[in-house]
Amino acid sequence: MAQEVRGVIAPGKDEPVRIETVLVPDPGPGEAVVRVQACGVCHTDLHYKQGGINDDFPFLLGHEAAGEVEAVGDGVTDVEPGDFVILNWRAVCGTCRACLRGRPWYCFDTHNAKQKMTLTDGTELSPALGIGAFAEKTLVAAGQCTKVDPAVAPQVAGLLGCGVMAGIGAAINTGNVGRGDTVAVIGCGGVGDAAIAGSHLAGAARIIAVDIDDRKLETARTMGATHTVNSRETDPVEAIRELTGGFGADVVIEAVGRPETYKQAFYARDLAGTVVLVGVPTPEMKLELPLLDVFGRGGALKSSWYGDCLPSRDFPMLIDLHLQGRLDLGAFVTETIQLDEVEKAFERMHHGDVLRSVVVL
Ligand SMILES: NC(=O)c1ccc[n+]([C@@H]2O[C@H](COP(=O)([O-])OP(=O)(O)OC[C@H]3O[C@@H](n4cnc5c(N)ncnc54)[C@H](O)[C@@H]3O)[C@@H](O)[C@H]2O)c1
Ligand SMILES: [Zn+2]
Ligand SMILES: [Zn+2]
Repeated sequence: MAQEVRGVIAPGKDEPVRIETVLVPDPGPGEAVVRVQACGVCHTDLHYKQGGINDDFPFLLGHEAAGEVEAVGDGVTDVEPGDFVILNWRAVCGTCRACLRGRPWYCFDTHNAKQKMTLTDGTELSPALGIGAFAEKTLVAAGQCTKVDPAVAPQVAGLLGCGVMAGIGAAINTGNVGRGDTVAVIGCGGVGDAAIAGSHLAGAARIIAVDIDDRKLETARTMGATHTVNSRETDPVEAIRELTGGFGADVVIEAVGRPETYKQAFYARDLAGTVVLVGVPTPEMKLELPLLDVFGRGGALKSSWYGDCLPSRDFPMLIDLHLQGRLDLGAFVTETIQLDEVEKAFERMHHGDVLRSVVVL
């Protein structure tokens, strides 16, 4: 029988979010119901609320979560009730052309629960990124549950479910940052700071943090940035070149998702360097670049979906590094909040007051 839980709903474009009763069906074949213990507030939730992703309102927001599996449906063998899991939004299919070529992190047919969660009047909800975890319980595909060491605090573990994994992966998976590389990261929110932490972990020689907010730059230093640039005051392309012997960085990671910051990334990299776009643009944005510069500067222009991660490979590994004290995931949690404080958390995010607010249930 469907269970009634409280969840945070975005009812329509730019309307404030509100708490509603959500009906969570029992898990069907291949599905799992998860008791959510923590869920971080990611900029992508704000994009959903603003109508920047699509118009499939109402949304059940929240997608950066950890919790305990409560029940599983028929045919589920990888997880069982009681398992502590991080939810991932790219459950790989194993059979699409990317998976068959041995590149499952690109899976072109990732899946979510087949059944719908609804409001009490039967209105079907669109769960953010197929998760919807600003709720006491949520229904997902079992493949979206990745087991990790339960010794880690849920509010820390959940961050790997989106922004922190996206940032670390943008550096180490997509950007292939390695020992001795120079890296610049444009935009130092949760995602950008994770890219900085990932570059630090990978042994980058110089890590240049760029943001328009000095508070963000201060935090970026604690994550491993060796230099900072406030791009409101200083031309970031010039500054990055100056800090890299006049050449530009080997890898520039764009973690804002805007044409102007993408252009900065494009011109701030060394010849044959790599640009990684991990920030998510909105549908109306356009990019114009001289095609000759695209050719002449060479290298690679890459996008990073979810940090090109493989949850089953990367989540347990990063949790282990955290538990060993080699990756301070706790530093990303600015505050823990209640379910009814998500709207306030969006405002704080908008004003740049937080790295991550995490709803704890
Ligand atoms: N690719 C993925 O899989 C993935 C996953 C999660 C989030 N994202 C995206 O990553 C982006 C960042 O997310 P977040 O949660 O860190 O957001 P955030 O709001 O916490 O951080 C954004 C940062 O960018 C800075 N910024 C804004 N405009 C800037 C400019 N013109 N120049 C330099 N810095 C600027 C802000 O001051 C802030 O520090 C968003 O677009 C989000 O949707 C992508
Ligand atoms: Zn696949
Ligand atoms: Zn996210």
